[in-house]
Amino acid sequence: MATVLPQHGEAHQQWRRLLNRYFTAKRMAALRPQIEAMADELIDAMLEKGQPADLKAAFAFPLPVWVICEILGVPDSDRDKFAYWSDTLLSMTRYTREEIGKAQAEFGAYLAGHVAAKRLNPGDDLLSELITYTDAEGRPLPDGILVAAGQGLLVAGHETTANMIAKMMAMLLSDRSRWEALLANPSLVRSASEEALRLDVNAGFGMLRYIDADFEIGDTVVPAGTTVVCSMAAANRDEKAFERADEMDLARTPNPHLSFGAGAHSCLGQALARTELQVVLDVLLRRLPTLKLAVEPAELKRVEGLLVGGLQGLPAAW
Ligand code: HEM
Repeated sequence: MATVLPQHGEAHQQWRRLLNRYFTAKRMAALRPQIEAMADELIDAMLEKGQPADLKAAFAFPLPVWVICEILGVPDSDRDKFAYWSDTLLSMTRYTREEIGKAQAEFGAYLAGHVAAKRLNPGDDLLSELITYTDAEGRPLPDGILVAAGQGLLVAGHETTANMIAKMMAMLLSDRSRWEALLANPSLVRSASEEALRLDVNAGFGMLRYIDADFEIGDTVVPAGTTVVCSMAAANRDEKAFERADEMDLARTPNPHLSFGAGAHSCLGQALARTELQVVLDVLLRRLPTLKLAVEPAELKRVEGLLVGGLQGLPAAW
């Protein structure tokens, strides 16, 4: 079942409105205690295994996939499968074409079965909410769209958030005075996580935009019909928009960064991503105040072969 979500125009806007009914600040606030409990559970398991640990593999990678499973009403026992599918689908070089094709087919079949089960036995999750939706003519959403919604959320919301959690922690621990500033003043958690989003130099490929009318940037005219790749990392360091743009200022407000994109396609899951980043900091500050990198910052290695940029691992001790 390979239905793709609408990408353009009114159909895309309708689709966004539908999903936005779920991704509200109120709903995200209600999810917060559950995300906290998941973070605590992952830390318990990490502590049990002992230090040093890879904070990315043990914590940053599983947390967002657990959250997406929760949102889709997927049982805890299937979380590992979701993690594997997500890793495979977003990889450009790490898996063979056959492995990617197989993962796609398995994931699609799993979600089709899951949607059918939800139709019979709805819960308090996003898919159940979409299942009960009917349009003005009373028609429900077809299964293909529900499956595509599940696939889209995993692909858009897992690696992005997992990598951002690891990169945020690397930024805060590579100069430990930043971590200490947060320990001394946890009310900085919100602005600190926004600043980490702004300073992410490794945001990935960039935003693709099709230019439908001639467009001037300085002396250059970009002609209509061009497809451009916009670098959010460059925009986020624009000295005209941010004072001391190269500095990490944990208290920076306002912080109009573009890490969630802009306009008609801006990140639909940004309220969720923000909640996850803040919960991560709250829980790690509370549980592991002595957290530190277990290697020199220069030894941290970038991941290659994924559409979303990130670190291969984050060796940490406490
Ligand atoms: C730190 C984590 C995240 C970052 C940095 C991020 C970033 C982005 C960016 C840059 C875009 C494209 C914006 C554009 O083209 O203007 C996007 C789109 C999107 N994101 Fe996120 N995202 C994150 C987490 C999430 C999460 C957790 C979800 C949902 C579970 C999600 C769902 C989506 C969806 C559905 C779109 C497509 C929106 C559309 O085309 O209308 N994202 N995200």
